[in-house]
Amino acid sequence: MIFYFSGTGNTKWAAEYVSSLTNEKLIFIPDVLEGDCHFNVEVDERIGFCFPVHGWRPPFIVRDFIRRLRIDDAAAHYCYALATCGDDVGLTFEYLNKDLAEIGLQTDSVFSFIMPESYVGFPFMNVDKKEKRDAKKEKGVKELNLLAQDIVVRKKGLCIINKSHWPIINSKVIGSFFVEKMVKDTPFRVEENRCVKCGICADICPVDNIKGGLGIEPEWLHNGLCTTCFACYHHCPHHAIEFGNRTKNKGQYYFHKK
Ligand SMILES: Cc1cc2nc3c(=O)[nH]c(=O)nc-3n(C[C@H](O)[C@H](O)[C@H](O)COP(=O)(O)O)c2cc1C
Ligand code: SF4
Ligand code: SF4
Repeated sequence: MIFYFSGTGNTKWAAEYVSSLTNEKLIFIPDVLEGDCHFNVEVDERIGFCFPVHGWRPPFIVRDFIRRLRIDDAAAHYCYALATCGDDVGLTFEYLNKDLAEIGLQTDSVFSFIMPESYVGFPFMNVDKKEKRDAKKEKGVKELNLLAQDIVVRKKGLCIINKSHWPIINSKVIGSFFVEKMVKDTPFRVEENRCVKCGICADICPVDNIKGGLGIEPEWLHNGLCTTCFACYHHCPHHAIEFGNRTKNKGQYYFHKK
């Protein structure tokens, strides 16, 4: 069973690829959050957690889900985590394993690989330029192929990750600031003159935080589940969504095969 979260599609693509090799079911975390989070995992089935790195940690929605997750005899299963990131995971897997320990689970192996950048919420951050984006994707395909083989054969003790020199500062200090101050949907707004009321942003939001649709101007519901994944911003065909003044003249990105 693969529990996954993805905003702009990088991790969805990776999770789907692993699932195609292991024949194990994909569960999109936002789809099951309202249930009891109790899952029956087949004997011999792997348990995987796939997610993007957010603020050098797992996204809060993944962490909240794990705190509620119940799997009978969880520790008997091969368990792995796979994160996609823009450049640096920091202590993401340490945070993950701390959360997993509370439900009697630990990862047997962890993996990360770099994919195109999706975060545009800091003034100094933007999507990657085309050459860098294409190079990351090309390398990503190769890395995913390799690590997926390790998952298939249930390799243990692997820690193949992208970690910079300042994991404590990044994950603990800046990560705390990020979760407390940056992960909020109040800065999102729509430039009315550019919005054609197509409803794509509402359809794409993984946590149903946008009300709107064909002919109806989108409105953020502030439902407490926004991860600032920026899927709404990146998918708008008219680049009509802004995040305060921090996204002015910035690019857009979401995963597609070509
Ligand atoms: C809110 C947010 C925070 C992010 N923080 C980090 C980070 O701390 N380190 C990093 O390398 N990439 C970071 N990124 C980039 C994503 O991890 C990366 O682009 C990922 O592949 C996106 O996956 P997705 O397309 O499945 O959402 C962040 C992206 C977002 C939206
Ligand atoms: S995706 Fe863009 S154009 Fe379409 S409704 Fe949303 S803001 Fe408007
Ligand atoms: S409102 Fe936008 S940024 Fe927030 S979860 Fe939905 S798509 Fe992601």
